[in-house]
Amino acid sequence: MINQDFLQTLATAKGVSNLELDVVVLAMDGDSTPAIAKKLNVSEDTVRKRLSEVYRKFQIPGSGPVKLTKLQQILVSQYQQYLSQSYSDLPNHLPSDGQQDINLHHIWNGAPDVSAFYGRTEELATLEKWIVRDRCRIVALLGMGGIGKTYLSVKLARQIQERFEYIIWQSLHQAPTIQDVLANLITILSQPQKIDLPEALDQRVSLLIKYLREKHCLLVLDAVEIVLDSSTVFWRYHNESEGYGILLRRLGEEQHQSCLLMTSIEKPREIALLESSTGCVRALELKGLKPEAAQKILQSKSLTGEQQWSTLIQTYRGNPLALKIVATTIQEVFSCNVDEFLKYEFLVVSDMFREILDWQFKRLSNAEKEIMYYLAKQNNLVSVQNLQQAMQNSITTSELIVALESLGGRSLLEKVQSEDKNTSETLFSLQPVVRNYVNKLIPVSKRLNEDKKRA
Ligand SMILES: Nc1ncnc2c1ncn2[C@@H]1O[C@H](COP(=O)(O)OP(=O)(O)O)[C@@H](O)[C@H]1O
Ligand SMILES: [Mg+2]
Repeated sequence: MINQDFLQTLATAKGVSNLELDVVVLAMDGDSTPAIAKKLNVSEDTVRKRLSEVYRKFQIPGSGPVKLTKLQQILVSQYQQYLSQSYSDLPNHLPSDGQQDINLHHIWNGAPDVSAFYGRTEELATLEKWIVRDRCRIVALLGMGGIGKTYLSVKLARQIQERFEYIIWQSLHQAPTIQDVLANLITILSQPQKIDLPEALDQRVSLLIKYLREKHCLLVLDAVEIVLDSSTVFWRYHNESEGYGILLRRLGEEQHQSCLLMTSIEKPREIALLESSTGCVRALELKGLKPEAAQKILQSKSLTGEQQWSTLIQTYRGNPLALKIVATTIQEVFSCNVDEFLKYEFLVVSDMFREILDWQFKRLSNAEKEIMYYLAKQNNLVSVQNLQQAMQNSITTSELIVALESLGGRSLLEKVQSEDKNTSETLFSLQPVVRNYVNKLIPVSKRLNEDKKRA
């Protein structure tokens, strides 16, 4: 729905009178010419004349109902443009008379279109329950690159948008400073009042929390991993981004009636510390799509050889991005035939995936890298004890435990509980794409050395 103030401003700019505007608004609501005439107490002829005046002023040619559709398209597109501008420069763009439409409070700055969305019924239900019923203050959506965190965050926010006065979806991909992010959020939430933004970070966070207490908002911060530090400990922040940690801690600890939904490949320390399964801060580790949903992705690429689809889906662990990429390769190189593709080395780590993994790998400590190299070479699941024995010469047990915890927080390990009833051991492994990537990383000299040792 288009905000009234925006319509009024645009109409004035185009020389459309208020009488003409009234007709347009009713026509766009779906009213027929006789109905509009009745509502406005004018003749049908007058309605038609006013409408054709508006089309002329917006330079819309043609005839019949197409013109109305065209007008609607123009208005919606200008409105979207206006929203994206207003977000970066709100004080200058927003009308300040306080008569904003509720939808002006729903800001989807750069959120992807999720009209082709499959599966995730359970995750959506869980997240909705946490946010709407249990009123969690922070919900973290964690998982490896391409697993569908961003998509799910948008789908969920769209699904529950009517429950909130404000929805603000913001990506951190461009690594905006915390000060800018806070300034934007506060400006949006304080409209139509004009406020002086405090300089100090703590005061800005306090002011934001004040609004989050007064108003019921869903803030979505996407790609939080971008502002986490690349240092060896998975939970530190960039020095200049320490503020994000402060924001997370205070949003998790202090009383307010809003929710922060965040997505990240890595788990921030604050989340690790505050999270509990029944508390106000919760985390959901996102796994791949279920087979039925993953199949829809392959279907959408018109692949054939259906009896082999499950192999493909299992190999890529239902990761929708990985499946989309590999499906495109199969489409282009193997005439859509999965069978043909599987005759070759079917673990394709595409450039896009390699970039994500490169980025993640660079952030690992030496101990974490050692563990990754070791796991990449194992065909079986590995216990902590196995790891300890295998690495006793290179890392201490406490380093091993810390590194395993850290790797777990980076969405890089696959963990399963041992089936042996006598032990409740956790067993570790790498998923095929990661294993393949790491094995290709191991320098030849290192591999030769180890082969020699084994010989
Ligand atoms: N539930 C889904 N249904 C259909 N496609 C999906 C779904 N989730 C993700 N995708 C596809 O996978 C790609 C990666 O998803 P995205 O949410 O960006 O992953 P992440 O944020 O975890 O890196 C998306 O661009 C989209 O094409
Ligand atoms: Mg994402």
